[in-house]
Amino acid sequence: MKKILVTRKLMKSSEDYALKIFDVKLNKEDKLMTTEELIHKSSDCDGILSSITEKLDHNVISKLSNKIKIISNFAVGFGNIDINAAKKRNIIVTNTPDVLTEATAEITILILLGAARRAKEGIMWASKKNWKWSADFLVGKQLTSSRLGILGMGRIGRAVADRARVFGMKIHYYNRSRLDKNLEKDATYHKSLESLMSVSDFFSINCPATKETKHIINNKTIKYFPNDAVIVNSARGDMIEDDAMVEALKSGKIYSLGLDVYNGEPDIYPEYLTLPNVFVLPHLGSATTKTRIAMGNLAINNIEEFFNTGKCKNKVN
Ligand code: GLV
Repeated sequence: MKKILVTRKLMKSSEDYALKIFDVKLNKEDKLMTTEELIHKSSDCDGILSSITEKLDHNVISKLSNKIKIISNFAVGFGNIDINAAKKRNIIVTNTPDVLTEATAEITILILLGAARRAKEGIMWASKKNWKWSADFLVGKQLTSSRLGILGMGRIGRAVADRARVFGMKIHYYNRSRLDKNLEKDATYHKSLESLMSVSDFFSINCPATKETKHIINNKTIKYFPNDAVIVNSARGDMIEDDAMVEALKSGKIYSLGLDVYNGEPDIYPEYLTLPNVFVLPHLGSATTKTRIAMGNLAINNIEEFFNTGKCKNKVN
């Protein structure tokens, strides 16, 4: 029986499932492991089931035992792992795509609405006793008939587009390459990010974090947005240069911001917490019972597939 280290607590049914297939070291207390603990605890294991809270950089990967053949990440994103360093050590890295597409698209719509309809201020007022209805009380921006620019039209970007169409939004997108007609549907493709930004009354970040996308929203690019744009990010914090964004929120260039992800999580850039026009959630994109169970089971199946066949369809390196 192969032995695996599961770095964080999974949903109970996924842990039970793993126990049937592998000799498993669970993290019952769900305590974050230090790098040394992770290296030590995994030293007699054949694989690691990691999560986004572990940074498996070049240094950590170089110290892993030769026995380890797979790192199965409990996430679709894998920016926490140096996949090239893993490849050099003959360790395959896998992720959990598809199963979290709908849940993440739902949270994107939640932060889009939260930012547009001033939900943070609404919650603050509702919890006081002295709010009064008036015709212009907390009036916000309506989604209907406005343009939504989507950066990254992969599975999640397209699922966001499908939901946004129901609100009557017109979809625009920028992607590494243009989509086939059947996936693009009625969306308008833009050849450059600047062109996409310039038509985005609303803008949703749904691309992976890479060297190319790091700080792609910065003080030079923000100026391309129409005045009063609403921006949301449910992908990774890396894409936004926080000080430039705060400046744009304060100057009124950007109307509001909805965030589920942050640079340096779990820290949150302090002004995002104090500005009334920033609607924040603590990385809940895939956090539904159904999705978290599906992710855990898929992360386990990825390991099983690899040890049974030498391959895995969700390999990313
Ligand atoms: C969550 O953020 C994921 O990448 O799955």
